[in-house]
This record gives sequence, structure tokens and C-alpha cells, in this order.
Amino acid sequence: MEEEKIIRMLSKTDKTLLSAIENEDMFSSELELKYALERAAVINSARKLFSLGLAKIDNITVNKLRLTSLGQKYLKEGLPEYKVFEFLRRNNVVEYKQLFSSVPIEKDELNASIGVLKKMLAINVEGGKITVNPDKFAKVEAQNGILQTVEKEQDVNYESVADLIRRGIIEEVSEIREKVSITQFGIKILKNGEFTVEYIDKLSPNNIKNWEELKFREYSEKPEILDSLSGNLNVKTKFISLIKDAMVSMGFSEMHSNYVESTFWNFDVMMFRQDHPDRDIQDTIYLNGGKATIPAKLLKEVKEVYEHGFFSSKYNESIGYRRTFDKFKSDSLIMRGHTTATTFRYIYEFISKNKDKPAKFFSVDKGFRNETMDNTHLLELYQIEGVVYDDNLTVSDLVGYIKQFYRKIGIENIRLKPTYNPYTEPSLEIQAFSPKLKRWLEVGNSGVFRPETLKPFGITKNIVAWGFGMERMLNLKLGMADIRYLYGAYTDLDLLRQIESAKAFGEF
Ligand code: PHE
Repeated sequence: MEEEKIIRMLSKTDKTLLSAIENEDMFSSELELKYALERAAVINSARKLFSLGLAKIDNITVNKLRLTSLGQKYLKEGLPEYKVFEFLRRNNVVEYKQLFSSVPIEKDELNASIGVLKKMLAINVEGGKITVNPDKFAKVEAQNGILQTVEKEQDVNYESVADLIRRGIIEEVSEIREKVSITQFGIKILKNGEFTVEYIDKLSPNNIKNWEELKFREYSEKPEILDSLSGNLNVKTKFISLIKDAMVSMGFSEMHSNYVESTFWNFDVMMFRQDHPDRDIQDTIYLNGGKATIPAKLLKEVKEVYEHGFFSSKYNESIGYRRTFDKFKSDSLIMRGHTTATTFRYIYEFISKNKDKPAKFFSVDKGFRNETMDNTHLLELYQIEGVVYDDNLTVSDLVGYIKQFYRKIGIENIRLKPTYNPYTEPSLEIQAFSPKLKRWLEVGNSGVFRPETLKPFGITKNIVAWGFGMERMLNLKLGMADIRYLYGAYTDLDLLRQIESAKAFGEF
């Protein structure tokens, strides 16, 4: 690379560092101190100089002394022998026994201190009497001062600390330091006349006007290619976007809403009985505090249907739960348990306001359940929710949509089983065969919304809807036996990489 181009890549810090090492090699820690730079800035810069061939970095192991946690304590309080000596000087104690009962210091520390002081000839103990040698005070004080010297990382004489090391007050540690030195090429660059030119680092409103006349610094941080597999989208992210493409290709528009939901939109609007086990804290994640605002008119309508059902010539058997609807249970905040809450918000916002217009909505979004995690259960799961509103929809339309979707995704072996939901009739559970687990797995749930759930919105046409589990579907696609391979600490990175490189999905 030509010299000028290299110079144009150098930032101010790079230039400062290069000039700093012109005449002497320097440790990165010295550079940090000298130029008040962050460690990361010095290291990044040094590596950049290295990769451009301007500097060399040698990792050098240096042994150094450091205070242990006991040493830190003594740094604050003073060494015990220092404290004892001070005490003796000031209080004029002569009785050995008296010292034990009056000096404010731990017994074992006191014993050790007396030993140390005797060895230093600072005190003498004879026949139960202590004599103090005041001349030795400077020596005791110096010993105490060593702690500060070590803390400040200044040089100390090894012999003077041997004892403190043995007592566990100071320890020896080795540290790797980066020594940065200039190369011949680095010197050449420094001498180049271009080196002193100041290049502009950032565009600003002021300099954008005449940018063509200005000299800008070149980008140098080109991404390093780690290996051929890095930089892929996570398989889950990719799968979700493929699902979204599939839904859009079937003419659906995407719904959006929040993770935090009210019990009204998650349960009441769907006619879950207020004592339904799904509402229990065993299954639902409740949030502390806060209250939701619920559209008052809608709440009233829901309460009416909940308690008494509704009469129409078509549904004269609708009699409601015939128990009181407690509206205070509607405004608690929870993590939404299913994205059907979103579906009902869209029924309210869009379908009920445009009753003549057919509508198809979908979402691929998270539901939260207070489950125990295992190979087929997660606490957060992605649900693929779909809802269709049109004239004359029947359960055959629902089955058609389900089959078409699974076929598009490439899962052929599915079956449908009647099931129960408080808000759909009929309800169909979708099962798929897992060759890995050698059993049928529940992969989705669906149905035709009950007239009771639509009455509060003034809707009389049929609505068909479903919710499929994304992770179980992905597990089936990938032939995995455990849903947790896709998440968190269980993630099998090698496996995910293999999948990525094998381009497992192709197009669908
Ligand atoms: N909400 C259901 C679930 O979480 C799925 C579903 C959606 C069922 C719409 C029927 C209609 O399992």
C-alpha cells in the first residue's frame, strides 16, 4: 500500500502513539497514563499500527507485587505491629499482661506483632515487662509505608517485602503487558511530510458544504473475515422471515402489538371463564402493579354476553355462564399468553369498523407462559397467528388454510383432532408426527370463533383463526429432538452452523 494512503487511515490517537514510540519502546499501560487514554483505545490503536506494519507488539510477562485483601485492610488501618508500637509509645505500657487487655487489636494479630517487633529490636520483653526502643520507630514506620509503595506500583526492594509476602499481606502476581515498538516502516511513515496533515474524522453541518475541498480520513476498520460461517442470520430469525413471506404470499397483512397485555384482551374478550385454570399464576405471568384501560362500552358488552349469552334466532341456545362477571379482574397486567389477544385487538380496531371488507391478518410474535421448560416446552414461544374474516366461511376453509400453510413450510405429515377452546366452536388441534421423538406432537390449535366472542363487536359473520407454535415447527423441519437447542445456554452452535451452511430451508 502506498505511504500516503496509510497515513490517511491514521486517527489522531494512532498518530500520537506512533510519535510516542519513535524513540523508545513503551508499554501500553504507560501510553494510557501519558496520554490519558482508555486501555481499549491504546490497544485498538496499537493493533491497528501493527496490522499496517508500523509497529510491533510484544507480550511481556512481568512479575509484580500486589496487596492482598488483608494488605488492603492494613493499608487503611496500618499494619498491626505499627498499631501496637504506636500504642506502646503513647500509653507508656510496661506490663506485658496489660498490653493484652488494653490494645484494641485482635489476639492473633497482637501475638504476631509482638514477634515482629521483637525481631526488629523495636521492643524487648523480659520478665513480663516491655521496654520500647524509640529509635526503631522509623523502621516500623517504613515497613508500614511499603504498603503504599506497593499500592502505587512503585519499585520496592524484594528483601524488604519477603516477610510481608510470607504473612499473606503482599503477593506476587504475573501480568502480561504489551510492549509497543516502532518498525523501520513506522519511522519512514513518521518522516513522510503528509504525516503532519490533519485529516477530518467526521462530517459536520459546517464542513459538508465544501466537503469536496477537504481532506478526510480513510476508513480502515474493514471487518475481519473470521471464517466462512460467520455473519449468518440465526436460523430462527431466518425461519421467521420465511414464515412471514409465506403468510404475505397468501394475502395476509401483519399485526403488531405489545408483550404486556391486560387480562381483558387475553381472556375476557374470548369468554374464558373468570375461574379458568389458564388464568392461574401457574400458567400466566402476572406483572406487579399497573392497571390497563379497557374500552368501557366493549367491557359492558362482554360482561352482558358472559353473564347471559345473547338471543338471536340463529343462536337461541346461547345462555352465557349465568354468573357474575367481575370487571375488576379485567384490568390486571400480564405477559400475553397467546397472540390471539392481538387478533381480538385487530377485530376491534379493523374488522368491526369495516364489516363489509374481507380481512386476513397474521402475526409471528411471542406468547409467554409460566411453564416448566423441557424438550417440547418453553416459557416464551413464538406463535404464528392467523385470522380470516369473510362471507360464508366454514370449517373447511379453516382446514384449507392450515393444510396450505403447513405444505408451504414443507411439513406434510399432519392430522387434525377435535379439541376445546372457550372461544372457538368447532376447535381443531393440529398434530404433526416427529420422526425424532417417534410420536405425534401438538403443533397448533385453531377454530371458528364462537358467536358470543363476536357479539360485543357487532360481528355476525364467521371468523376462522389459528395459532401454530413456531419452535416446534422449526424442530420438525430440522429433525431436532429438543426445542432448547435453539435457545440460550443450550444452544448447539455447531449444529446451528451446520444447518446454516447446509441451507436447510431452501425456498418455500
Ligand atoms: N390461542 C390458541 C393457543 O394459544 C391458538 C388459537 C388461535 C386457537 C386462534 C383458536 C383460534 O393455543
